[in-house]
Amino acid sequence: MKSITRICFKLFRLPLSSLQFILRSMLALTLSVYRTAVRLLLRDWMLRLASPLVRLLISGFEFLLILNFRLSNLSSRKIWLNGGGTVMHFWVPTKLKPGQPTLILIHGFGGSSLWQFFIQVWHLSRRVNLYVPDLLFFGNSYSDKTDRSDDFQARCVVEGMKKLGENRFNVARISYGGYVTYKIAEMYPNEVEKIVIVSSGICYTEEQKNEHLEKLGKSPKDFLVPQNPQDLRHLLDLSMYRANWLKMLPGFFLQHAIDAVLKENGKQKKEILEYLINREPVPEHGNLSRETLIIWGDRDSVFPVKYAYELQRYLKPKAKVQVINGAGHALNFDAPIAMNKHIISFLQN
Ligand SMILES: *[C@@H]1O[C@H](CO)[C@@H](O)[C@H](O)[C@H]1NC(C)=O
Ligand SMILES: *[C@@H]1O[C@H](CO)[C@@H](O)[C@H](O)[C@H]1NC(C)=O
Repeated sequence: MKSITRICFKLFRLPLSSLQFILRSMLALTLSVYRTAVRLLLRDWMLRLASPLVRLLISGFEFLLILNFRLSNLSSRKIWLNGGGTVMHFWVPTKLKPGQPTLILIHGFGGSSLWQFFIQVWHLSRRVNLYVPDLLFFGNSYSDKTDRSDDFQARCVVEGMKKLGENRFNVARISYGGYVTYKIAEMYPNEVEKIVIVSSGICYTEEQKNEHLEKLGKSPKDFLVPQNPQDLRHLLDLSMYRANWLKMLPGFFLQHAIDAVLKENGKQKKEILEYLINREPVPEHGNLSRETLIIWGDRDSVFPVKYAYELQRYLKPKAKVQVINGAGHALNFDAPIAMNKHIISFLQN
């Protein structure tokens, strides 16, 4: 895979616009195939016939995602921790840019960093030294330990960074468990410079939590580790506002995506969620001395935007809020470039 990517990279040196064009065309193609298929009232045997095609399409798409990361001058590194029982996978800068800020960009629940940040890495990595880890049990990271806590994830990210030779960095985190970011900042005050928390309600009381879970309608364990197209549609519907059309992808396509990307380590992911849901509420007052930027979409229906201001009150005095209008929870899909711009200007100030 690696060498093929390198050859493609060398041969074509595709500019971003053509890459995006290819990605868009592939999606458009899939959608139009779907519409035609529905019109023709596809039979079961036809779907089965289409199945290898879909698998090929998803593998091809993943290949383009990897190519996109490589064209963004990132390379794939695995770091072994805890005496070899834990492996953290990072995308790291191929060449460090002196004088530019170092940023760890951490993904949320859902696919790996490859799938969550493919729109953002090109733009971001030109302006910062970008490190993109897969959290444990996502993408290519794994641990044989039974610890499912935020502290453990936080420790593994930071220990990985140290092994990569980085001792001072900024941290940006999207969605579930911005608490990992908070934890990193709390546990490693000497290493962390600034933090960015995106769409992540980290401080709520027991009451707020129960109200929140009730409003989501389904147990997060059911749709955050989706097993079938309905679960995934629920997740897409909940987390996206502009990119909401993704839920219209055909069921068999979504099922393949689940099998290929989302189902991995399902048991451990559910344990992580279990831990999150049952975790003690955070302390009454935060005590974060780092400058913090909170970014939120005003159409977020997972954590409504009021949580942004609650978080700001909690983290004061050094936190500011940046709301992006017309975007939902998954800002990495709904407003990736706006999110990048806010992060970059915050880090460069
Ligand atoms: C990647 O590195 C090459 C060569 O140093 C440079 O020309 C190109 O602009 C870089 N691309 C990005 C996205 O940073
Ligand atoms: C906040 O953190 C600082 C330094 O990390 C510490 O000296 C101080 O006691 C803490 N305050 C509270 C209320 O925990």
